[in-house]
Amino acid sequence: MSGILIAAFTLSVGALARASCKVTPSDASWPTTADWQALNDTLGGSLIATRPAASSCYPGNPFNSSLSCSLVETSWTLSAFHASLPESIDYPIFANDSCLPPGASGYNETLLGCHLGGLPIFIVNATSAAQISTAVAWASARDIRIIVKGTGHDLSGRSAGAHALSIWTHSLKSIKYESQWQLPAGGVDDVLIVGSGSNWGEVTAAAAAEGRVCISAQDSTVGLGGFIQGGGYGPLSSHYGLSADNIYQATVVTTSGEILVANNVQNQDLIWAIRGGGPGLYGVVTEYVLRSHPIPETVVAATLSMGLSTNSTSYNATWAGLAAFMKSLPDSMDQGLTGSGNAVSSTMGVTLSMDYFGYNMTAESLTALLEPVRASILAQSQHDALNVSVAEPVLYPSYVDFFYYLQSTSVGAGDATGLISSRVLGRTDLSNLSICRLQYHLRQVMQAETEGGGSRLLVNLQSGRGTAQVETSMRGALNPAWRTGYVHTIATGSSIDLTIPPQDALSAAAAWTEEVQEVAWREWAPTAGAYINEANPYSSSWKHDFYGENYDALSELKSKYDPTSSLYVLSGVDSDGWDYNLTTGNLCRTA
Ligand SMILES: Cc1cc2nc3c(=O)[nH]c(=O)nc-3n(C[C@H](O)[C@H](O)[C@H](O)COP(=O)(O)OP(=O)(O)OC[C@H]3O[C@@H](n4cnc5c(N)ncnc54)[C@H](O)[C@@H]3O)c2cc1C
Ligand SMILES: *[C@@H]1O[C@H](CO)[C@@H](O)[C@H](O)[C@H]1NC(C)=O
Ligand SMILES: *[C@@H]1O[C@H](CO)[C@@H](O)[C@H](O)[C@H]1NC(C)=O
Ligand SMILES: *[C@@H]1O[C@H](CO)[C@@H](O)[C@H](O)[C@H]1NC(C)=O
Ligand SMILES: *[C@@H]1O[C@H](CO)[C@@H](O)[C@H](O)[C@H]1NC(C)=O
Ligand SMILES: *[C@@H]1O[C@H](CO)[C@@H](O)[C@H](O)[C@H]1NC(C)=O
Ligand SMILES: *[C@@H]1O[C@H](CO)[C@@H](O)[C@H](O)[C@H]1NC(C)=O
Ligand SMILES: *[C@@H]1O[C@H](CO)[C@@H](O)[C@H](O)[C@H]1NC(C)=O
Ligand SMILES: *[C@@H]1O[C@H](CO)[C@@H](O)[C@H](O)[C@H]1NC(C)=O
Ligand SMILES: *[C@@H]1O[C@H](CO)[C@@H](O)[C@H](O)[C@H]1NC(C)=O
Ligand SMILES: *[C@@H]1O[C@H](CO)[C@@H](O)[C@H](O)[C@H]1NC(C)=O
Ligand SMILES: *[C@@H]1O[C@H](CO)[C@@H](O)[C@H](O)[C@H]1NC(C)=O
Repeated sequence: MSGILIAAFTLSVGALARASCKVTPSDASWPTTADWQALNDTLGGSLIATRPAASSCYPGNPFNSSLSCSLVETSWTLSAFHASLPESIDYPIFANDSCLPPGASGYNETLLGCHLGGLPIFIVNATSAAQISTAVAWASARDIRIIVKGTGHDLSGRSAGAHALSIWTHSLKSIKYESQWQLPAGGVDDVLIVGSGSNWGEVTAAAAAEGRVCISAQDSTVGLGGFIQGGGYGPLSSHYGLSADNIYQATVVTTSGEILVANNVQNQDLIWAIRGGGPGLYGVVTEYVLRSHPIPETVVAATLSMGLSTNSTSYNATWAGLAAFMKSLPDSMDQGLTGSGNAVSSTMGVTLSMDYFGYNMTAESLTALLEPVRASILAQSQHDALNVSVAEPVLYPSYVDFFYYLQSTSVGAGDATGLISSRVLGRTDLSNLSICRLQYHLRQVMQAETEGGGSRLLVNLQSGRGTAQVETSMRGALNPAWRTGYVHTIATGSSIDLTIPPQDALSAAAAWTEEVQEVAWREWAPTAGAYINEANPYSSSWKHDFYGENYDALSELKSKYDPTSSLYVLSGVDSDGWDYNLTTGNLCRTA
C-alpha cells in the first residue's frame, strides 16, 4: 500500500511541473479503458461510469440511464432526488446544463442535448477511507481533476466538474452515539461519530433518540460534508455556534492518499481548515466527530407578517417598516429568539413574513418578545399604511416535531433563474443605522435586474451570541465575520438568460450582481463577510467576503494538503490560479 502511494506521489510531482491544464479525455495521457478497469478492480468494483439521469429523455438513451424519463422529470425539483444519485446536482447550470430533462429550468433540446458536459466522467461509490485513498492518489498522480459529491446540494455547483473523477460519499452513512467520548486534549463529552455521507435528517433523529441535538441544517436532506466545511447554520446555530464550531475531529483523505485524523492534538492545522475554511479543498472528509448538546424541551414558533393595508398606496412606508424590523433583530436574538423569513419587493413596496422560534419558552413569552418588534414597525405606519400581525404561537411538544415542521418549508432544486448575493450583518449594520439609512440600503440591495421585477431578501437569524461565544479551542478558519454577525441576509434579483450557453449566462448575471448588488452591500456593510455556502461565488471581493483574514493561512494549507491542486472549486482558496471554462470543460492554470 505505502509503496503504491510513494510511486503515485513521485509521478504527480512530475505531472505538476509539466501541465498547465488538468488532463482531459482528449489528451494522450488520459488513462485507457484498461487503466480505468484496473483502477475499478483495485477499488473492488465501485467505479461508476457517469450515466446522467436524464439520458433516458434523449433519443437512444445515450448513457443508458436506468431511470425512466418521466421519473426524472417529476423528481427534478426535489433536492432528495439529486442527493440519491451519483452524479446529479441541484443547480445543473454549474454543470453546463449537460443533460436536462424536458421542463427543467434551462432545458433547450436544440442547444443542449445530453452530454457529460460539466459532470464528472467516472465516480467512485465510496465505502471506506482506504478505497478513497487509492482512488485520489491514482487520479492526482495522473493530474486528473478530483471533485467530491455528498448530496449535490451546493448552490455554486461545487460538487460537479468536467473531465473529473468524483468521490461520492453518499454511502458513508455510519452513525454512532458515544456518551463519554475521550476528547483528544482531555475530558469527555457526548458525541456522534458520523460518516460524512450522512444527512442532517439522519443525524438529528439519531441524536434525538439520545436526548441530544447537533448543529444541523434546517433542511433534513442537507449533507455533512460541504455544509460543515463551509460553516453550516441551522435552528440551533444562534445558540451554540455554527456546525463548524462543533466538530471535535475529522478523518481526512488528502489527494496524495494519506488518511489523516485531525483534531486539537494532531494535524491541528488541518482541523482548523476543516472548521469552516471552505468545502472540497483540503481533502475528502470521511468521518466527523460531532459535539452534541442537550435537546430543547419545547419549541414555540410564531409568524410576524407585514404588508400594505388595504387601499393604502404608501409604498414607502413598507420600506420603513422593513427597516424597523431589520433594526430590531440583534435585540431579539440577544433575547434568545432565532428564526428565518423573507421580504418580497415589488413596484408596490415590500411585504415581510418572518418565522420566529424560541426554545424552552412559553407562547406568552414569545408573544411578549415580539410586541416591541410589532410596535417599532407600526411606528413607521403613518395613516395606518401598514398591516402588521403576529400569528398565534404554535407550541411544538418536542424538538423533533419542530424539525419535521421545518421540512415543510424546504427549498427546491433545479431552479437556475438567478444568482444570489449575501452578507452576514452585525449590530453596526443593523441596529446602529437610522431607519432612513437602512431603508436606503435595503432598496439598493433589493434591486431586480428585470425592469419592474421584484426581488427577495432572505433573513436568517443564525449568528449572534452562539457564534460570538464559541470557545477558542473549537474555533477554526470559519470566516471571522460570523463572530460579530447576527443576521445572514441573502438577496435575489439577478436573472439568468436561459437561452444562451451557461458560461455566458452566468457571466452576465455575475456582472449585473457585481455592479448593482455587491456595490450596494459594500456601501451598506463595508467590512462584513458573507457565508460561502450561500453567496455570490463571482463577487470580486470573494477572498475577503468568504475567508476574511484567514485567506493567506488557508492558501498555505491548500498547498500543503493538496500539492497537486487536484481539488478545484469555484471561489475556493487558490481558485484564482485556475480558469475553469464551462464551455470546454477545461481547467487550466491562469499563469
Ligand atoms: C434544500 C437546501 C437547503 C439548505 N439548507 C441550508 C441550511 O439550513 N443551512 C446552511 O448552512 N446551508 C443550507 N443549504 C446550503 C448548503 O450549506 C450547501 O448546499 C452545502 O454545499 C451543502 O453541503 P453538501 O455536502 O450537502 O453538498 P454537496 O453539494 O455534496 O457538497 C458541497 C461542497 O462540499 C464538498 N464536499 C462534500 N462532501 C465533502 C467531503 N466529505 N469532503 C470534502 N468535501 C466535501 C463538495 O466538493 C462541494 O464543494 C441548503 C441547500 C439546499 C439545496
Ligand atoms: C466496475 O466493476 C463493477 C463490478 O465488476 C462493474 O459492475 C462496473 O460496471 C465497473 N465499472 C466500470 C466503470 O467499468
Ligand atoms: C448502453 O448499452 C448498450 C447495450 O447494452 C451498449 O451497447 C452501450 O455501449 C451502452 N452505452 C454506454 C454509454 O454505456
Ligand atoms: C456546454 O454547453 C454549450 C451549449 O450551451 C456547448 O456548446 C458546450 O459544448 C458544452 N460544453 C461541454 C463541455 O459539454
Ligand atoms: C453504492 O454502494 C453501495 C454500498 O455498497 C450500494 O448499496 C449501492 O447500490 C451502490 N450504488 C450505486 C449507484 O452503485
Ligand atoms: C432547554 O432546557 C433543557 C432542560 O432544562 C436544557 O438542557 C437545554 O439546555 C435548554 N436549551 C436551550 C436552548 O435553552
Ligand atoms: C392584514 O394581514 C392579515 C394577515 O396577513 C390579513 O389576514 C388581513 O387581511 C390583512 N388586512 C388588511 C387590512 O390588509
Ligand atoms: C377600500 O376601498 C374601497 C373602495 O373605496 C372601500 O369600499 C373599502 O371599504 C376600503 N377598505 C378599507 C379596509 O378601507
Ligand atoms: C418614496 O421614497 C423615494 C425614495 O426615497 C422618494 O424618492 C419618493 O419621493 C418617496 N415618495 C413619497 C410619496 O414620499
Ligand atoms: C452602536 O452605537 C452605540 C451608540 O452610539 C455605540 O456605543 C456602539 O459601540 C455601537 N455599536 C456597534 C456595534 O457599532
Ligand atoms: C434554444 O437555443 C437556441 C440556440 O441558441 C436559441 O436560438 C433558442 O432561442 C433557444 N430556445 C429557448 C426556448 O430558449
Ligand atoms: C471558453 O472557451 C471557449 C472555446 O474555446 C472560448 O470561446 C471562450 O472565450 C472561453 N470562455 C472564457 C470565459 O474563457
